[in-house]
Amino acid sequence: MTEPCEPLLRVENLTRRFPGVVALNDVSLAVAPGEVHVLLGENGAGKSTLIKILAGVQPPSSGQMMLEGRPVSFASPREAKEAGVSTVFQELSLVPTLTVTENLFLGRLPTRGGLVTRRGLPALAKEALDRVGAEVRLDARVGSLPRSAQQLVEIAKGLMGSAKLLILDEPTASLGDRESDQLLALVKKLSAEGVSVIYITHRLKEIAQIGHRVTVLRDGNYVGGLGPDDEIHDNNRLVELMTGRKPEKLYPRSPRSTGEERLVLQELHAAPDVNGVTMEFRAGEIVGIAGLLGSGKSSVGQACFGLSRVTGGKVVIDGTEVTRITPTMALRRGLVYYPSDRKRQGLALVRPMYANITLGSLGPAGVARFGMVNRRKEQATARAHVKRVNIRPGDVNRRAELFSGGNQQKAVLARGLLHDADIHIFDEPTVGIDVNAKADVYRVMDDLAQAGKAVVLISSDLPEILGMSDRVYVMHDGRVAAHLEGEAITEGSVLASFFGSKTNDREIKV
Ligand SMILES: Nc1ncnc2c1ncn2[C@@H]1O[C@H](COP(=O)(O)OP(=O)(O)OP(=O)(O)O)[C@@H](O)[C@H]1O
Ligand SMILES: [Mg+2]
Repeated sequence: MTEPCEPLLRVENLTRRFPGVVALNDVSLAVAPGEVHVLLGENGAGKSTLIKILAGVQPPSSGQMMLEGRPVSFASPREAKEAGVSTVFQELSLVPTLTVTENLFLGRLPTRGGLVTRRGLPALAKEALDRVGAEVRLDARVGSLPRSAQQLVEIAKGLMGSAKLLILDEPTASLGDRESDQLLALVKKLSAEGVSVIYITHRLKEIAQIGHRVTVLRDGNYVGGLGPDDEIHDNNRLVELMTGRKPEKLYPRSPRSTGEERLVLQELHAAPDVNGVTMEFRAGEIVGIAGLLGSGKSSVGQACFGLSRVTGGKVVIDGTEVTRITPTMALRRGLVYYPSDRKRQGLALVRPMYANITLGSLGPAGVARFGMVNRRKEQATARAHVKRVNIRPGDVNRRAELFSGGNQQKAVLARGLLHDADIHIFDEPTVGIDVNAKADVYRVMDDLAQAGKAVVLISSDLPEILGMSDRVYVMHDGRVAAHLEGEAITEGSVLASFFGSKTNDREIKV
């Protein structure tokens, strides 16, 4: 596999400047055939910038790339793909209104006499989807699929044709454990077949699973590389390289005291996958909701905020039934939901950062009066929150789309925090966020709980569920499979309920 032969890709002295930012500064690296090369770095370190240059999305300010020994420069992702460089970006590029098959063949439908020939397409599409283990209907509209399935479709699309180099930008960010394992197995398989992979992740444990070599970037600079003979499994060393500091304590836990019931769900049924859920959330505690993708955990949060249709049961906030709630009403009642999908439910990417943060909350934040928005006050409020969640760079006038992925995710957080709510429902809050930023998010959650807020943490990240929760509901198949508290919250007990509760098994057998 990684023989000392000509590298497939050699990147030399790549630099990319944007107004006010050097996103990439004189970075060099080489990728051998069949090598899984991990790019590691904090949010904003320059990882996506590097791969956008490799993929032909944007040109470098200076520097060059060699593919199989020949200098190359791609004017578009399509040109890159024709040369064997296929990229799956952090922000998915699928068209939500088209079907899975249409998306897979978008821009490259085989045509005959100007007419699209669709014969044979389903078979090809099926083959591509099987390769990545995506179980989706070919005629499903992509927009109706869960984000994880969309991600797999995107990867399947990237792999169609003959890729020599596959670039994956945080491919497992929105996948659950099972789908992630599937994807990692796929990367291993491709690598064994001789395909090189550049892989970006914030999940350090994946490096040990699939990585042959790691390149670490910090503020656009190359700060270190670890090869096959180094200790690439040493997380502390990696974090230190990434951040220039010793790892911080990840999960803070200040003394909390549990108060009255804030949010109660009684036999809640909601679209598309909640089938009778009873839960309660109290002031001053952090309650985790764990479960596999499709377990219904995310829909529970969305239903409480009026984003999923409630089909039965009740939602009660502070003793008042609010089952048919809308987001505006929810906010007025002191419930805020932080969506996991910053693109679809989150940010207006072409608007400036400050507007995204204050969006929808001008009233409560006190920046709008008599219908007029005080721009300066709006910006000041946004700036304070940018600081609180440490969004970088701190220039609130830049368009949201110009921020790195992780920093966009932090903006979703900042916007929610602007509401002085009593109930905070976080849906996968640390997806795509680097280690230090994670610590920031957990600190914010801990502060909220300590201040007597009810905090709900919906998450596929088991360590974060175990590290942060006072109580945990484990969901399976739209129901609560287990309710764990204190010492009973262990990796084993949560995992054991991922596939349904023991009691349920017994009931089924009777
Ligand atoms: N089009 C652009 N215009 C201006 N600045 C940009 C642009 N694209 C990226 N940047 C800046 O370049 C820097 C590197 O961003 P990049 O997206 O490469 O980070 P990243 O390492 O991928 O981070 P993350 O882990 O958050 O995805 C950031 O400071 C970002 O704000
Ligand atoms: Mg990125």
